[in-house]
Order: sequence, then structure tokens, then C-alpha cells
Amino acid sequence: MSETRCYPRHVKTDAGDIEFRLMTRADEAAVMEFAQKLPSHDLLFLPRNISQPKVLSAWVHEIERGAITSLLAVKAGRVVGCGTLVRDPHSWSPHVGEIRMVVSLDVRGQGVGRALSQETFAVALGAGLGKLSVQMTVDQQAAIALFESLGFKAEALLRDHVRDVDGKTHDIVVLGHNVAQVRAQMEAYGLPDAVQP
Ligand SMILES: CC(C)(COP(=O)(O)OP(=O)(O)OC[C@H]1O[C@@H](n2cnc3c(N)ncnc32)[C@H](O)[C@@H]1OP(=O)(O)O)[C@@H](O)C(=O)NCCC(=O)NCCS
Repeated sequence: MSETRCYPRHVKTDAGDIEFRLMTRADEAAVMEFAQKLPSHDLLFLPRNISQPKVLSAWVHEIERGAITSLLAVKAGRVVGCGTLVRDPHSWSPHVGEIRMVVSLDVRGQGVGRALSQETFAVALGAGLGKLSVQMTVDQQAAIALFESLGFKAEALLRDHVRDVDGKTHDIVVLGHNVAQVRAQMEAYGLPDAVQP
């Protein structure tokens, strides 16, 4: 799914040098350590709790099956972020990909999330997808600001859609980005390469 991109890649952020590479089974322990340190509220946008070994193992299986591409952001050998692209070529939405992203608390606000979102976005474009979606709890202001700045727009509000470990429900906002439409508009303006991997 990353036809046009080669990994590992390195970017400089305010958190230092970050390596982006594709996640494999060999990363399971490092990703578990990363996931278990995340506040559980920050995992509510995911369909399953990735800090549980069974869920992580199923995730790796999906990577090996090709249904999921996960990019890890690694700082000095430690996983500090993960950007995932999920799609289902056999569904009625083969042109749609969902982006899921999370960054370690200790490096937030230093540009890792922006770099990771751009990288994950590029993987999605490289996979030829026409539409991208992303979802988060409504209080994730950084995530909403980040994806809006990439051109995503609010498409749905799912009330009381997730329940946290204390039994409290939270609303989920779904943002979408019609990449194909933006690409077509840019071509109409004579800017054919404006949306590219
Ligand atoms: C969303 C998330 C990945 C951002 O990671 P990050 O490394 O802190 O992001 P960055 O430092 O690159 O900041 C990116 C943008 O977010 C916005 N932002 C960052 N912190 C913010 C805050 N506290 N409040 C509002 N906006 C904020 C800014 O617009 C920033 O843009 P800039 O590059 O112009 O400054 C991180 O907050 C996170 O893991 N959240 C929990 C998981 C989640 O909800 N994911 C969303 C589902 S995809």
C-alpha cells in the first residue's frame, strides 16, 4: 500500500530526529510498550483497545494480510507515534481509507503528529484512494485542528458513540477528505500535481 514511498524515512521535528518505518510483527513488543503508556481516553477513537495483547496481535495479522498499513514514528529506538491506514478493497467503499493516529504524550506539541499525518496521508494517496476519513472524540482539539489543516471537513457527529473504562459515553466526530474531488479541482485550475503522494 506504500507503492510510491520508500521506508525508513527521517524527518527533523522539535522532538528531534524521527524515523518513519512500516510496522511489522517484530515491532509488537515496542508497540505494546507505546500503547500501554497512552491515556486510555486517547484510545477511544479506535474500534478496539490496542493496549491489549490480543488486539495488537490481530492488528499485526491485518498488516500481514495487507488490509492495514501502519507507520511507526521512532525516536532513538523508541516508538513515539503510530499512523495507520485502514481500507477494505472488497467492501462497497474500496476507494475509502480511514486514517488512525496517535502520538506519545511526552513528545506531543513538537511536530511529530503533523509529520506523521502528512506521511500517512501520502501513503493513502500512493494507494490511489479517492476519499479519506478520520474520527476522534470531540474533545481532541489537536487532532481536529491537525486534520482540518490538511483539508478534512466535519461530516458526522456520532452521539454517545464510545464508552470509556468508567462507563462514561463520549461523542465521536467523523471528518472526511474527498481527495479525488480536490485533485479534479486542481487539475481544472491547471495544477495537476497539487495533490500527490
Ligand atoms: C492528534 C495528535 C496525534 C497530534 O500529535 P502532536 O505530535 O501533538 O501534533 P503536532 O505537535 O504535530 O501538532 C499538530 C497540530 O495540532 C494542533 N495542536 C497541537 N496541540 C494542540 C493543542 N493542545 N490544542 C489545539 N491544537 C493543537 C496544532 O494545530 C498543530 O499545528 P501546527 O503544526 O500548525 O502547530 C495527538 O494529540 C494525539 O495522539 N491525540 C490522541 C489520539 C487522537 O485523538 N487521535 C486522533 C484520531 S486520528
